Amino acid sequence: MSFREDGAAALEWAARYLERVGELPVLAQVEPGEIRSRLPVSPPEQPEAFADVLRDLDEILLPGITHWQSPRFFAYFAVSAAEPGILAELLSATLNSVAFIWRTSPASTELEALTLDWVSQLLALPAGWHGHIEDTASVSTIAALAAAREATGGRVVVCSEEAHSSVERAARLLGLETRKVPVDEEFRLRADAVDLTDAAAVVATVGTTSTTSVDPVPELADACAHAGVWLHVDAAYAGSAWVCPELRWSQAGVDRADSLVVNAHKWQLRFCEAWPGSSSRMKLRRRPRNPARLQPSD
Ligand SMILES: Cc1ncc(COP(=O)(O)O)c(C=O)c1O
Repeated sequence: MSFREDGAAALEWAARYLERVGELPVLAQVEPGEIRSRLPVSPPEQPEAFADVLRDLDEILLPGITHWQSPRFFAYFAVSAAEPGILAELLSATLNSVAFIWRTSPASTELEALTLDWVSQLLALPAGWHGHIEDTASVSTIAALAAAREATGGRVVVCSEEAHSSVERAARLLGLETRKVPVDEEFRLRADAVDLTDAAAVVATVGTTSTTSVDPVPELADACAHAGVWLHVDAAYAGSAWVCPELRWSQAGVDRADSLVVNAHKWQLRFCEAWPGSSSRMKLRRRPRNPARLQPSD
């Protein structure tokens, strides 16, 4: 293979795909098992020319793709990736850095911290919070609820009936019980129906997946402060809207949260990233446990 020539062909394929994706049928045009039946049952013994790989991509795989990048894709939520993000993926795959501590990739660690500072400013979050990138909002919520369990000793996660399934899954993975609170006529968690007995955390959603309803974060922050319960805000879907000052009404009370997740891969046109911004409470809990993670001295 020629990395340069085949790479140029891959880039041309990507550019052409983005030009024509709006003309392709949005939904995959295949029956279950059809794609698999067109592929070899065993790993190939011989390499293939890259042109043949691209031909298989067009002829075999593309009919089985549901085109999330299509301008006519309106299911679930907007999750398009922009061209700068696609090129950034290429460059970061080339560097292949594994940045689990500062020394294994100082530039990645410092760039991550700086970028999250910028995101924090763009979203008008309180000064002094720190953030980091996880692969999904689901993983961020697991991290936040693990911190909540440790900080409070509680065994129950309280959220609305409209909360994303990742909340219940995170609770189950952490051995916590989920207590669902009914919603009002606008699908917002009913703060008057919250029971915080043995609660580790309340998860308030800003932008529920089904209807983009916004839970009453200020009231929940009051209740959590009173009961010593962790407040996690799941703004995976709608948090990016805070870039626009006129949409920041939905941020009320979020400055009092212990942790927050926002998805960059929804309205920020980036790849799969999620961002748990964390208040000082999380910082204080985390530091003694893993001081080396971001420290040059490690
Ligand atoms: C409100 C909310 N929370 C969490 C998630 C999970 O996001 P991810 O796919 O990044 O785990 C979603 C995804 O749709 C969501 O809308």
